[in-house]
Amino acid sequence: MKKFTTIHDIENLSKTIQEAIALKANPFQYDTLGKHKTLVLLFFNSSLRTRLSTEKAAKKLGMDVMILNINNTWNLEFKDGTIMNLQTAEHVKEAAQVISQYADIIAVRAFPNLKNKEEDASEYVLKSFMKYATVPIVNMESATAHPLQALTDAITITETATKKRPKVVLTWAPHPKALPHAVANSFVKTMQALDVDFSITNPEGYDLSLDITKNTPISHDQEEALKNADIVYVKNWSSYNQYGQVLHQDPNWMITQEKIGSASCMHCLPVRRNVVIEDAVLDSENSIVIQQANNRTFAAQIVLKTLLEHL
Ligand code: CP
Repeated sequence: MKKFTTIHDIENLSKTIQEAIALKANPFQYDTLGKHKTLVLLFFNSSLRTRLSTEKAAKKLGMDVMILNINNTWNLEFKDGTIMNLQTAEHVKEAAQVISQYADIIAVRAFPNLKNKEEDASEYVLKSFMKYATVPIVNMESATAHPLQALTDAITITETATKKRPKVVLTWAPHPKALPHAVANSFVKTMQALDVDFSITNPEGYDLSLDITKNTPISHDQEEALKNADIVYVKNWSSYNQYGQVLHQDPNWMITQEKIGSASCMHCLPVRRNVVIEDAVLDSENSIVIQQANNRTFAAQIVLKTLLEHL
């Protein structure tokens, strides 16, 4: 593996999940693999889990870590041929090459603007770093994908499942702000690659891109969709068709104890309590969101290990 920008960069997903679970049992077994190697984490947006878990994962592999909140530095230009006499002070062509001299691996977080579908779909920030950096790139959540989260989710589901082919339902839940599609997109792609009984439920108007969902069943009846679920993955996203819009915040779609029954409840966090998921679920044994967040470290660690082995 030479980069990790999509879940499909993993050659053998099932094997990688098992390797991550083995790493969790013995996290320091490769503690010198990253000696004298540096990971630079570039954040265009906020983070709690991604930032700390990726740093922790790198340090367990013996790597040095440098973190840059890129909005605190020079305003980057991404377009070719721009006359840079306005707000942007440095072109990504120079920035990516310069950072590559300080880093052996660069990880990037850059959310979509949710205003221009084509611009977000172009993944111009992530792809500019892929084009101009001279070291491997890791996606820490881009405009359309969050593969580190999806690998984490696959690890968590594998650990949690008590039957061979669990029923996994991705459900939309309400949220006051317009949120990206990245987590849901990568989760869908990952579930499609695993041996699970997978479906999606969301209100009308909130269907994800058909390029992502493909043949995955989509129901607009949450109650029906959640029947007999083993694992309920809760996430909000803004409308894809009416791009980036919050069409409504129907509280009837909030996840409650009554709806979840005996299923395990997952969410990538952060979660707005009593808007997305009610307290009774998050405070119950059904909630595995803390275990899920812990697995962010082992997902990052197996990805960094694989990249280090291919440097
Ligand atoms: N789930 C997730 O990516 O969390 P952060 O945004 O806090 O990194």
